[in-house]
Amino acid sequence: MGPSLVVVDDPRHAARLVVDEIDELSRQARGRNKPLVLGLATGRTPIAVYDEIVRRVEAGRLELEGAIAFNLDEYCGLEPGDPHTFAAWMRAKLFDRLSWPAARVHIPSGNIAAGERDRHCAEYEAAILAAGGIDLQLLGLGRNGHIGFNEPGSPRESRTRCVQLARETLADAAADFGGGAVPQSALTMGIGTILEARRVRLLAFGEKKRPALRRALTPPADAELPASFLQQHPDARFFVDAAALGPTRTGLGIEGA
Ligand code: F6R
Repeated sequence: MGPSLVVVDDPRHAARLVVDEIDELSRQARGRNKPLVLGLATGRTPIAVYDEIVRRVEAGRLELEGAIAFNLDEYCGLEPGDPHTFAAWMRAKLFDRLSWPAARVHIPSGNIAAGERDRHCAEYEAAILAAGGIDLQLLGLGRNGHIGFNEPGSPRESRTRCVQLARETLADAAADFGGGAVPQSALTMGIGTILEARRVRLLAFGEKKRPALRRALTPPADAELPASFLQQHPDARFFVDAAALGPTRTGLGIEGA
């Protein structure tokens, strides 16, 4: 078993395939009179997916009316209006472009008082359950193998919680903060939360992701490479480009697309 692997030409190719699945799930959800529940990610990797969603909705080729979104994570300590929040990023890249109702957007509140965080995280988990669970969780891959902000060492059973960001994560975020202070902690769904999504779709592009990708695909699953826990998910698929995959494909179970 383990994740199936689809080699794509580029992020736009991956976006078309992922949005095909979102379309299929959206139709199924409407057939059952239930809202589609999407788990969403920020970062460079999913941008083409959001562009493709917007393109299809505007062209009348995708119906997302009533869909509910849960984002993976949010930095701690930023003011709500701060443009560096993932909430602001998601509004700009997706929600505002589709006039997605705020009541159907869920993003952990990173500016909640420290004493309230555990309660807030438990409520986040409860809201996912109340929505019927996540139909499809979109993921990027950190250079250190993180998914969401589950940094190396995150347990398989972890749930939504406050975490300290790893050195590589802070270094990668530095450019986005243009020399300003990068938050040292974040709220993130846990590995356990992510593994409960019915489908998990991870995207990884470019050579920088290669070491983490290869370790994620190589058993055994290990907390030092959190994405490797996706080996234990019954419906995980990785969309990767040739640069992320590298020259040696033996034993990786590649599916064409
Ligand atoms: C984003 C997230 C992170 C990113 C990962 C890759 O919400 O949770 O795990 O997916 O850091 O980031 P990019 O896509 O910028 O390479």
